[in-house]
Amino acid sequence: MRGIAPRCDMADMNRQLVLCNRPKGLCAPGDLQLAEGPVPTIADGQALARVKYLSIDPTMRVWMAHDSYLPIVGIGEVMRAAGLAEVVESRHKDFKKGDKAVGLTGLQEYCVIDPADKRKIFRKVPPIPLISDTAFLGVLGITGITAYFGMMDIAKPQKGETLVVSAAAGATGSIAGQIGKIQGCRVVGIAGGAEKCKWLTEELGFDAAVDYKQPDWKEQLAAATPKGIDIDYENVGGEIMNEVVQRMNLHGRVVLCGLISGYTKGDPALESFARVLVKRLRVQGFIVMDYMDRYMEAAAQLGKWKMFGKLKSRETIVEGLEKAPEAINMLFTGGNIGKLIVKV
Ligand SMILES: NC(=O)c1ccc[n+]([C@@H]2O[C@H](COP(=O)([O-])OP(=O)(O)OC[C@H]3O[C@@H](n4cnc5c(N)ncnc54)[C@H](OP(=O)(O)O)[C@@H]3O)[C@@H](O)[C@H]2O)c1
Repeated sequence: MRGIAPRCDMADMNRQLVLCNRPKGLCAPGDLQLAEGPVPTIADGQALARVKYLSIDPTMRVWMAHDSYLPIVGIGEVMRAAGLAEVVESRHKDFKKGDKAVGLTGLQEYCVIDPADKRKIFRKVPPIPLISDTAFLGVLGITGITAYFGMMDIAKPQKGETLVVSAAAGATGSIAGQIGKIQGCRVVGIAGGAEKCKWLTEELGFDAAVDYKQPDWKEQLAAATPKGIDIDYENVGGEIMNEVVQRMNLHGRVVLCGLISGYTKGDPALESFARVLVKRLRVQGFIVMDYMDRYMEAAAQLGKWKMFGKLKSRETIVEGLEKAPEAINMLFTGGNIGKLIVKV
């Protein structure tokens, strides 16, 4: 049986963001509220860790609203979030003080690492020279792994094919598009605003970028995809997806990664599926958690591409746990370039 250990520095408190209301639209003040609890105590087989960085992900907005691939977050519970934490005290043989791990830390300052609790999916982070901690939440973390498997396992890109990526300047889209380039595709990114589009073409090597905030974006998309579209790496849904699917070639593939345009509104528009049928498109939805036992395969390849300069990544870092609600909203207003992270 596990014994509970008293903690030595009880002066510390654990600041947490608790879900108090289910947001309507964007998160409003008070939907997530700061609370203070005692720093948790640990039992045998557990470690206590201080959260250093929090991954801010669109799926958090889904977790606040309804059951999905994970259960809804209950009112009064600490908001679920992935993060990177450093061990400060350990009663687990594989975790030593100073070790770092990523997993579902929650929006809080301290968390318990309990490898027996598979729902929290903690994984120790290896110290790799020149690789920052935050990379394990971005290019070598969930969003990088999502892009990798979405492209390599589902899209299976062929040289010369045209790939269109939506939310292309975000964490997942920016990596998915670059993987498309590495595989020899013509890559077109759809993103909001000139700065993001410039980053895609001038820094990341995309062949073209479409600014969907311009009134002529549909014409821009047509001009950028003269041979139609073979792969839609779909992060947005709604009107953008409709337009992309219209331009798809026979037997194309739609990687249904996310539908962010619907997360703050209720049901995402799914009109595109009539065209899926007529064009005999292969559409596959996927959840990156299904690929966790193949993490090393993806991380090794992404790491290699990054080391050889074939993959670039960027982060938007917001300082302070209390800023997490604003950071979540930034995902829906386009306030981030690359991976959005909160430094606790
Ligand atoms: N299937 C999986 O396992 C999995 C795993 C991770 C992520 N995802 C999905 O991947 C997508 C991207 O996630 P991420 O974490 O990489 O976030 P992100 O792309 O870094 O950030 C979200 C971006 O989406 C764009 N956006 C927001 N609302 C939009 C709208 N109504 N129309 C067009 N663009 C909009 C914004 O950029 P603009 O300025 O360009 O509008 C924003 O910066 C999400 O749909 C997410 O749910 C899926």
